[in-house]
Amino acid sequence: MVPVDFSFILHPLTNEDIFRKLKFMRNWPSFLVEKTMRMLPPLWTSRITGISSPYNSVEGCFMAVFLTTRQMLQLPPEVVIRKIIAAGKKAARAGAKIVGLGAMTAVVGDAGITIDRNLDIAVTTGNSYTVATALEGTEKAAALMDIDLSRAEVAILGATGSIGSACARILARKVNYLTLIARNTQRLERLAERITGETGLAVKVTSNIKEAVRKADIIVAVSSSAESLIDPEDLKPGAIVCDVARPRDVSVKVAEKRDDVLIIEGGVVQVPGDVNFNFNFGFPPGMAYACMAETMILALEKRYESFSLGKEITVEQIDEINSLAAKHGFKLAGFRSFERALSTDDIKKIKERAKLRLGFATAGKN
Ligand SMILES: NC(=O)c1ccc[n+]([C@@H]2O[C@H](COP(=O)([O-])OP(=O)(O)OC[C@H]3O[C@@H](n4cnc5c(N)ncnc54)[C@H](OP(=O)(O)O)[C@@H]3O)[C@@H](O)[C@H]2O)c1
Repeated sequence: MVPVDFSFILHPLTNEDIFRKLKFMRNWPSFLVEKTMRMLPPLWTSRITGISSPYNSVEGCFMAVFLTTRQMLQLPPEVVIRKIIAAGKKAARAGAKIVGLGAMTAVVGDAGITIDRNLDIAVTTGNSYTVATALEGTEKAAALMDIDLSRAEVAILGATGSIGSACARILARKVNYLTLIARNTQRLERLAERITGETGLAVKVTSNIKEAVRKADIIVAVSSSAESLIDPEDLKPGAIVCDVARPRDVSVKVAEKRDDVLIIEGGVVQVPGDVNFNFNFGFPPGMAYACMAETMILALEKRYESFSLGKEITVEQIDEINSLAAKHGFKLAGFRSFERALSTDDIKKIKERAKLRLGFATAGKN
């Protein structure tokens, strides 16, 4: 078999993802599905072909680790990490010189550091390019919804995480009202102090998700929660949520019940060339998650070195991967919301409905 240049490790986000491929398991009790999955070795899922920039062409493969988000968060980290390392070794045997960590495989334990130490090939979480694209998408969405960043109430859900803290530190230079949300308040306070030291901005912190989200005009949602955290009644009319989390932080009920808020998927990019993933992960042809794209960019650049690792991502790394992405022709894909493309007309209608509802709310107070 022709060796690949890179590999990307995926896993089923929920049991539903498993049932889509293994329908016979649908009627099994959850514990049996998870126990069976735990016994499976990593699996070569598909070959990725056709990635081509003006400078280079590369091929890769998806490698699957059969643990759901819940298992990744609940099993002892060493069990999960051992499985991810096994997938990385299999990728190396297929020729990959760099491996990207998808979804929870990048979250568990020390965010790639132990995995990197146990592999002879480079490792990246993809978090630097994810931050770059999430922020670009959020700023574009704000402009389309006529929200002035400097006057907006901005909240980051999952603010102390690898992606969340980088987003917070960069946004703190552009906004005046910033709230950091997570469960551990000590870590939140440490981050707030750091941001104030870096930017002079006084930042609010809270573990009360509902209260903070209700006040926010813009929310960057990047928690590693296995369950959704934002429900339809939590959002004010006209609010924007850039939902980077996988699984999503925003409940699918928001799509059904709120036509006056803009929910965009964070970190979705257009890949250069005529890419074929030979595997359906829910995007239209040619589109990928930013974390997948980071691995492709490093392979195209022949930068076979571990890039985004650990919980601390620097602004320099984010700027560097962003300019390499532009060099090789990666760009932010159009807005998507709950598996659907959003047109400028859709966004205009959301804005109109939000104005109407805010008008009613104000009239009701008079
Ligand atoms: N779209 C993409 O291309 C892409 C790329 C990479 C990663 N991701 C996704 O991005 C998310 C974050 O990744 P990360 O590496 O930044 O994770 P991380 O470093 O583990 O950070 C997770 C953050 O979420 C908070 N959190 C976890 N559970 C929570 C809960 N129930 N309620 C409130 N806050 C909670 C954590 O703080 P506390 O523990 O204190 O609550 C922490 O601040 C994951 O869902 C990952 O799959 C997406």
